[in-house]
Amino acid sequence: MARVLVTRRLVGDGLALLDDHELVYLNSEDRPLTHAELCEASANVDAIVCVLTDRIDAEVLAAGQGRLKVVANVAVGFDNIDIVAAQRCGVAVCNTPGVLDDTTADLAFLLILAASRLSSDAERTLRTDGWKGFRIDQFLGRDVNGMTLGLVGYGRIARRVAARAAGFGMKLVVHSRTDPGEVDFEPDLDRLISRVDIVSLHVPGTPETKHLFDARRIGLMDRNMVLVNTARGSVVDEEALARALDEGRLHAAGIDVFEREPAVHPRLFAAPRTVLLPHIGSASHATRGEMVRLAAQGVADVLARRTPSNRVTSA
Ligand code: NAP
Ligand code: GLV
Repeated sequence: MARVLVTRRLVGDGLALLDDHELVYLNSEDRPLTHAELCEASANVDAIVCVLTDRIDAEVLAAGQGRLKVVANVAVGFDNIDIVAAQRCGVAVCNTPGVLDDTTADLAFLLILAASRLSSDAERTLRTDGWKGFRIDQFLGRDVNGMTLGLVGYGRIARRVAARAAGFGMKLVVHSRTDPGEVDFEPDLDRLISRVDIVSLHVPGTPETKHLFDARRIGLMDRNMVLVNTARGSVVDEEALARALDEGRLHAAGIDVFEREPAVHPRLFAAPRTVLLPHIGSASHATRGEMVRLAAQGVADVLARRTPSNRVTSA
């Protein structure tokens, strides 16, 4: 019987796919396991089902060498896993592509609307200062109807955001590594910024996308623009973003992911016209359940010597 480490509390009934195996839970408190705990556990299991708070680095993978066959991340992003080290150690890595696209696109669109219409500032004022009554000049946001949305990265989730944008009467410009052909593609990211009103980020967290939106690029945005990040915190320089918001060089921002989660940059925390959410892009009952099921399916496939459909093939 194979042993499968489940690093955190999970949801739904997807782990039933692993009923033939022994599930190992070391974590009744549902806290992120320490690096030392992951290394120790890795040495004694055939598979790991983990989440994005688990850093599965070269040391964790090396500790499992000889027995560990598969690591399945209950997330589509896999920047918490050293894919090159996994390949070197002969460990398959699985993720959860496809099952969370609509749910995450909904959240990106929620942030597009909430940031544009300044809903967090308005709600905060209502809750903390008391509502003094309707005023015609209060919390004047920007309409999304008729605006141009710039999508950075045009993969599974971005395409679902594009479908929602069409329903809101928005125009679309897309930047990605490869020209998808069927849309207004802008190969120059700086030029995309000059062509759009709202930027929504949908690239993976990689060394190439680190601070793709740094102080210089954020400086290219004008005071009417909105930046939304549901991709990875590392894609945006949070200090530079907070400064731009403070100085009124950007209309608003909507942020679901942070550079040093769970920490939120104190300047971003205090910045005006900013909607902040605690990494809930895929957080619906149905979608999180499907993510667990797909991760478990990947483990079941590898342990049964089948090739999983959700195996990560390149870093
Ligand atoms: P995907 O289908 O792989 O799409 C990624 C897109 O980014 C592709 O169009 C890819 O281009 C492009 N890209 C990659 N590197 C790039 C670069 N250096 N410059 C420009 N474009 C680049 O991924 P997805 O399923 O849509 O997910 C995207 C990301 O969203 C995930 O990796 C994850 O980090 C994040 N996410 C967050 C949440 C949340 O809870 N907030 C939920 C789900 C996902 P090519 O087609 O040329 O490769
Ligand atoms: C969540 O951030 C994911 O990558 O699935």
